[in-house]
Amino acid sequence: MSTALAVHGLVKRYGTVEALKGVDLSVEEGELVGLLGPNGAGKSTLVKIAAGLVRASAGSAEVAGARAGSRAARARLGYLAELFRFPGWYTADEVLMLHQRLARSTGGAPERRRLLELVALADAADRRVDGMSKGMQQRLGVAQALVGEPRILLLDEPTSALDPVGRRTVRLLLEELRERGVSVLLNSHLLSEIELVCDRVAILLGGEVVAAGTPHELSRPRGVELETDEGTKTIQGATREDAPRLVAEAVAAGRQVYGVRVLTSTLEETYLEAVGGETS
Ligand SMILES: Nc1ncnc2c1ncn2[C@@H]1O[C@H](COP(=O)(O)OP(=O)(O)O)[C@@H](O)[C@H]1O
Ligand SMILES: [Mg+2]
Repeated sequence: MSTALAVHGLVKRYGTVEALKGVDLSVEEGELVGLLGPNGAGKSTLVKIAAGLVRASAGSAEVAGARAGSRAARARLGYLAELFRFPGWYTADEVLMLHQRLARSTGGAPERRRLLELVALADAADRRVDGMSKGMQQRLGVAQALVGEPRILLLDEPTSALDPVGRRTVRLLLEELRERGVSVLLNSHLLSEIELVCDRVAILLGGEVVAAGTPHELSRPRGVELETDEGTKTIQGATREDAPRLVAEAVAAGRQVYGVRVLTSTLEETYLEAVGGETS
């Protein structure tokens, strides 16, 4: 299996602003990767370079082996911009038809039907964009990005403008895409839904990757909390593996044990620590 997106030493300068300072990032075939970071971190810049919309100052980006920006690379990716707007008078079906033309997809009506079904808009094929909720438009946006069967999907903040219900729907859709083996790079300055679905995440701050790994790897152990007749105390640095021994020791010492809890930093806490509270 080849790498769907490979980014090496990527640098982008806008005048004196250094938006990316040498970023390495990869998305393997079928992988769902989250690129997290506060506003201004450089997430959109990275995705725009991958999509061929912005030229890198240095470094390289390849889409399924083709140089980003080349015709071959563009044919292999689907892109949903951060603040997209489809013409309000278009129906869902017409939006997809337009993008089939732009992407030179020969999928025709069967492809459109299949994509609308995938994003749970099968019943809304003839509904105009103006009459759709934000969540429906976002799902249509994902369907649009999937026109032409891309190898990788680049989604810039696909859930930021949505309410919790809309976010959940997009999250379920992402899970569905992963099940189908579609590679996805997802930008977000939010966390909850990403933590639940991403195979890997990278945290971007000031144009640099400051942490990367699986959500599990980035969720650090913080100790074990033991509740006994003497009160509740936290054994710092202890992990899940220490829990049975800690309970046994407390019992052997004559304590009544009422509870034991393994404490971990969630990805969100790790993220907040990494970005130093910069969450705007
Ligand atoms: N077209 C542009 N011209 C000048 N500066 C830009 C441009 N696009 C982005 N920037 C700057 O680059 C940095 C990264 O922006 P961006 O990639 O949009 O970050 P993010 O998507 O993480 O919010 C910010 O400081 C932003 O102001
Ligand atoms: Mg952005």
